[in-house]
Amino acid sequence: MIERLAQQLTEFDPQSGVIEGAPIIERRLSDLRGSFADREAYETTLAEADPVIYTVALVEPAQGEGALHYGLGRIVPGRIGAEYYLTKGHLHAWRPAAEIYVGLSGEGAMLLEDERSGESRLLSLLPNSVVYVPGFSAHRTINTGSTLLTYLGIYSAAAGHDYSFIAGRNFRQVLVELDGQPTLTERSRFLASLQTPGANARHE
Ligand SMILES: [Fe+2]
Repeated sequence: MIERLAQQLTEFDPQSGVIEGAPIIERRLSDLRGSFADREAYETTLAEADPVIYTVALVEPAQGEGALHYGLGRIVPGRIGAEYYLTKGHLHAWRPAAEIYVGLSGEGAMLLEDERSGESRLLSLLPNSVVYVPGFSAHRTINTGSTLLTYLGIYSAAAGHDYSFIAGRNFRQVLVELDGQPTLTERSRFLASLQTPGANARHE
């Protein structure tokens, strides 16, 4: 007799972000307070609507040492001010735990920030590509395109999620649209540009 784990085989729809039988976490704009740099644009947008920004369908077939969990992420296209729609981002509670992201559809990026060195790295997240997120890295997914961004994230069942780092001071860099192009810039510099009408973050 072959022992079967629950959800040992799943099927997913990259467009709907659904995995049959898997619970879905839904994050609306109101759940992302503090995530976007431009607070005025955030409040203005939220006063008009509270759209779903992203969902994650979670599959946890087993627990314990050696087990893996994974999620199908789906981020809608859009921006708050100049900043693209994004996930909250997190570190793993078990800091050395790495993660693999597999791009399925759309056009996006992953912003990584090493907790120990503070170094940032922006990596494209595209269909047929894999992003390796090393341990000790805060990571956030961003939709830079005009269509849905979907991807799989595969991680140790023991990794855990720590959001306090992000809630405290957020990532050092922001990915904003500048002259029609995704542009990575220092958060502090971008915030300063918001205070100076007409200022261009790139030229400050
Ligand atoms: Fe993660």
